[in-house]
Amino acid sequence: MSDIAKLQIGENSYEFPLVKGTENEVAIDIKSLRTATNGVITIDAGFKNTGSCESGITFLDGEKGILRYRGYSIDELAEKADFLEVAYALIFGELPTKEELDKFHADIKLKSVVDDDVRKILEAFPKTAHPMGILSSLTSALTAFNPSSVNVNSEEEMYNAIVKIMGKFPVLVAWTMRKKSGLPLNYGSKSLGYVENIMKMMFEEPNEEYVINPIIKDALDKLLILHADHEQNCSTSTVRIAGSSHAGLFASLSAGISALWGPLHGGANQAVLEMLEAIKEDGGDTKKYMAKAKDKNDPFRLMGFGHRVYKNFDPRATIIKKAADEVLKDLGIEDPILEIARGLEQEALNDSYFVDRKLYPNVDFYSGIIYRAMGIPVEMFTVMFALGRLPGWIAQWKEMRLNKEPIGRPRQIYTGENLRPFKSIEKR
Ligand code: CMC
Repeated sequence: MSDIAKLQIGENSYEFPLVKGTENEVAIDIKSLRTATNGVITIDAGFKNTGSCESGITFLDGEKGILRYRGYSIDELAEKADFLEVAYALIFGELPTKEELDKFHADIKLKSVVDDDVRKILEAFPKTAHPMGILSSLTSALTAFNPSSVNVNSEEEMYNAIVKIMGKFPVLVAWTMRKKSGLPLNYGSKSLGYVENIMKMMFEEPNEEYVINPIIKDALDKLLILHADHEQNCSTSTVRIAGSSHAGLFASLSAGISALWGPLHGGANQAVLEMLEAIKEDGGDTKKYMAKAKDKNDPFRLMGFGHRVYKNFDPRATIIKKAADEVLKDLGIEDPILEIARGLEQEALNDSYFVDRKLYPNVDFYSGIIYRAMGIPVEMFTVMFALGRLPGWIAQWKEMRLNKEPIGRPRQIYTGENLRPFKSIEKR
């Protein structure tokens, strides 16, 4: 293949270089397009064909169902690694040695205490507040308690900001859940592993010693790993674009949390469970809901189905489906919701509407079933997604700043009124 792309506009032709990735992905570098063509730009709603950056963090091939972090396959990581190792690899580029991991964990623990005034902010939220709104606000509030913006040219400052947020974020997650459940706020224990400590912070009852269930711990580790990064999705792009104005790390993360909240993105895990519950309440008639999903006059979509990038299968969904089966079996839970989920999946896999549009179950289709089995309230599901995605967001923010990417500022094609004279209010 030539390494030049040619563009013809009217009489004029232009040449643009091609950029190739390490997995042979190809892009047309249109940096010079507007200048060369005297004002022509590209338009691509939803950025379906637009690469926003070059990145060495996550590789995803939606046609083949491949997902890799730093070159490691998601299947192997979910099977053999723990969440903190994966977080380290995403953020620093390599899997840690035992010493590196121990130091990373020790530094995180050292920085995990949240200023006690953050409790006052949390207390001011009504009980009805959605946990994602609370989490986004508290993450933003951390900026006020840690006002100095990170000097990205200082490895030490960058490292300190990273261990601070890796330490404090799980506390905010746990407090958000405890507030919702009316439980007193707590800290975990420094003697526990990263994920075990999260569990203790979330689930410990005030009058009883918390005993970690290894089945739940393994499942949570796996879920967090599967959510840890997903290249330039909506929330990650938000984190990168907010940070591209040189907004601080915590402020950029808060923007990412808000983007994740929506039901077409991370909010889908809550929406899936609510949908399955509604189908159950309605007598379990999956065919009725399949028909609604296909009806163009009905806004209903089958939540947990379809993906912007995966057009074959979502490799995360395959791992989660297996994990859901195992967790429910190991915990001895018989959840009728699982049967409805299986039924919907089978119908969709054999229905030409879904097959033709390449709509398969995504990561969120089965994750809620596991979260529910773990005793996590439905409204907290997207918060759990955010907890998993934290290292990915950090890695992407860091890469964007170190690559000295310019401020993100798309252009537009204006379709409004042409110049017109001002009319005084009496004449309107
Ligand atoms: N149910 C019914 N029809 C669907 C669905 C669905 N879940 N998803 C897509 N379609 C149809 C859509 O109506 C369109 O049909 P047509 O070509 O006839 O107009 C076609 O499939 C293409 O859909 P699209 O909306 O253009 O595709 P997209 O790439 O813009 O959207 C998506 C991707 C994930 C937003 C969408 O599939 C969706 O809304 N899914 C449900 C929400 C969901 O599960 N989101 C979680 C995504 S995975 C977690 C994450 O990383 O965020």
